[in-house]
Amino acid sequence: MSTQDPKSPAGAPGTGTGPAGGAAVKPTPPSRDPAAEAAALAMFEADEAGLSKQDEPAGRAEQNMAKANASERAAATPKPADAAPPTDAKPLSITGGKPLMAELAKPLAKPPVVAFNKVTKTYGSGSSAFTAIKDVTFTIPDYPGRGEFISILGPSGCGKSTVIRMIAGLLPQFPQTSGTVLIDGKPVHGPGPDRGMVFQDYTSFDNRSVLENVAFGLECRGLTRALDGVTRKQTVAQLTTLTPHQFEKGMTVVIDLVDDKSFNGTHKVAATPSPTVFSVLMEGKPDATSRGGVVRVPKLSGSERTELAKHWIEKVGLSVKKDSDKYPHQLSGGMRQRVAIARTLILEPRIILMDEPFGALDPPTRSRMQDNLVALWREQSPTIFFITHSIEEAVFLGDHILIFSNSPGTVMKEIRVPPPDRPSIELQRDPKFIDIVMGIRETIDRLESSNRAGD
Ligand SMILES: Nc1ncnc2c1ncn2[C@@H]1O[C@H](COP(=O)(O)OP(=O)(O)OP(=O)(O)O)[C@@H](O)[C@H]1O
Ligand SMILES: [Mg+2]
Repeated sequence: MSTQDPKSPAGAPGTGTGPAGGAAVKPTPPSRDPAAEAAALAMFEADEAGLSKQDEPAGRAEQNMAKANASERAAATPKPADAAPPTDAKPLSITGGKPLMAELAKPLAKPPVVAFNKVTKTYGSGSSAFTAIKDVTFTIPDYPGRGEFISILGPSGCGKSTVIRMIAGLLPQFPQTSGTVLIDGKPVHGPGPDRGMVFQDYTSFDNRSVLENVAFGLECRGLTRALDGVTRKQTVAQLTTLTPHQFEKGMTVVIDLVDDKSFNGTHKVAATPSPTVFSVLMEGKPDATSRGGVVRVPKLSGSERTELAKHWIEKVGLSVKKDSDKYPHQLSGGMRQRVAIARTLILEPRIILMDEPFGALDPPTRSRMQDNLVALWREQSPTIFFITHSIEEAVFLGDHILIFSNSPGTVMKEIRVPPPDRPSIELQRDPKFIDIVMGIRETIDRLESSNRAGD
């Protein structure tokens, strides 16, 4: 098994952030152990299964309600200029100052989604102690109805994986040696269903088919969708969801929290006229129109899980017909990574942690996956942490970029960039986009040389 990740294929150059001249001796990253990671994943999912028995993670319905109240904002994914931490004096702009970020959303008076405060991690002790990250501090605010997309850039061995595995609550990166790591204002205690991880190495269950791998996490998990509007005429109620509902006729759904309480209750889906509209029968109630609310499928049946898994297999660019029954050893590396991505995203975690997930993909597949990820981010509004060695990828995907220094890693710079307004391939040819990438490359070079001169 390879101990190094395939980095930056053609079209996705690296950061060039390594030590200059080969003079600095960098600690070699430890050999990764895919079997151990698969075991960690299994533990992670076992833990999820236990926790998710209570239908939905706490705060999810609330998050969906916030989504409902901020539907337009969710679609536009604007940047809250007033909430940006002190970063670049001169913000970078792809649109040349056009009002891409005109619509402002203030963070709720809620704790940040993730907050690191002076976090240090030292592996080992005594003479073999090695400090991987030092005083890492950053805050990811909780904006109503949308999560940030945080790209993490930095040289190999600077502690990027350490940081996101700490957020995931995975040993031995978790717990930190000092400092605080808070998720929604609370300390991390270990893995949880609110966080989903796509590992640097592909992790799947080798004894499960693609379909079984993708459906695995759903076994104890229901679905929740925020409602955009509800109307009832005679006995038929028509409900519109903010994101595709993926319901089937005959499914049992629980409607809750609609302003007009007469809509609330358990019903069977009577029809699904469009991806975001479904209807149910409600006998003996007056005609009415109302807003707000959520709809839940408390627990998916085997066939429902299969249907949803098929949907995700297609969504990551695999073929239901050709690939569903294959086992991981029958797939290419890129295909296995897509299975790993589908099995994490299908669970719709609030925080998605992705460790160089596209590093092994060929450039066209990589671009397609980038576009898919942006679409998903817009659709479901999770907070995404995305490690990459490609500045292009970091700029295309991210709206908040954390640049880490050489080991011991610390946050050298935070940069905010606009979200993508075009497909990856198109945007990456835009001279303004290329300018931003060059600007970041120069910033990294400058910061690294001043680091070397100053330390
Ligand atoms: N379990 C461990 N025990 C000892 N040292 C470790 C351990 N895990 C990581 N390290 C060290 O911590 C440093 C940071 O590792 P980490 O994997 O977080 O780097 P990274 O930035 O993700 O690198 P890459 O870009 O190569 O994936 C490395 O020098 C690595 O050798
Ligand atoms: Mg790493």
